[in-house]
Amino acid sequence: MDARHELAELVRLTVRAVAQQKDNGIESVRLPDDLTALFTDPRAVTPPAASPAPRSDATSLQALYDANCTCTKCPLGHTRRHFVFGSGNEHAEVMFIGEAPGAEEDAQGLPFVGAAGQLLTKILEAIKFNRDEVYIANIVKCRPPNNREPRPEEMAACEPILREQIRLIQPKLICALGRVAGQALLRTTAPLGRLRGTFHDYHGIKVLVTYHPAALLRDPSLKRPTWEDVQKLRREYDQLMEFTTKAQRT
Ligand code: URA
Ligand code: URA
Repeated sequence: MDARHELAELVRLTVRAVAQQKDNGIESVRLPDDLTALFTDPRAVTPPAASPAPRSDATSLQALYDANCTCTKCPLGHTRRHFVFGSGNEHAEVMFIGEAPGAEEDAQGLPFVGAAGQLLTKILEAIKFNRDEVYIANIVKCRPPNNREPRPEEMAACEPILREQIRLIQPKLICALGRVAGQALLRTTAPLGRLRGTFHDYHGIKVLVTYHPAALLRDPSLKRPTWEDVQKLRREYDQLMEFTTKAQRT
């Protein structure tokens, strides 16, 4: 491949990646200046339309995505296909946090789109949420090879991204899906059986831990306790919203 074709391939991959991220509310990807300069050479390839300025300032999810989507702070950055940032409503009151992308998520660049994701969608619908009103993310943004558990150092490297997502979104409630997500978020080694069922605190935000949907697929007997957990989440949400509405009236 000559340089021109290499560049065309790079543009094609970039445009495809941007298109995939649109579902996340990501509408532009900032290119490094030296790469942008390449596009100004009319002999190169037809450049993509000038990317619109990020919708908000450096304190937005967009800026956070831009700053991290090429991350290679841990080895997972070298084996992923897509950086899986998160998706949903950037003003969500409720966030659902899983463990790490699987094969389908890695292929699409979106969280919870495989079999476990389809079950998560159904669980959300059962408690009258849809995916667009909540925000869905993972502890780790890149797929661990063969779906192994993310390693402590990988979770540590990725932690600032999730922490910033939570700070920007300011949810009222967080639902951690599975032991790995619950333990990482709450910085505990307590077993899931002890973590689930009651609310915990993450910097003033209430956290409920329940089973991971992938666990429900393996063991349907976990559906019932999960159902009880998510109903608790919904009741808490309703109470918080009622309280907010009343506070706004007074
Ligand atoms: N499992 C997770 O923990 N997260 C995903 O995004 C998909 C499957
Ligand atoms: N964790 C899971 O439980 N499932 C996946 O697909 C990936 C990570």
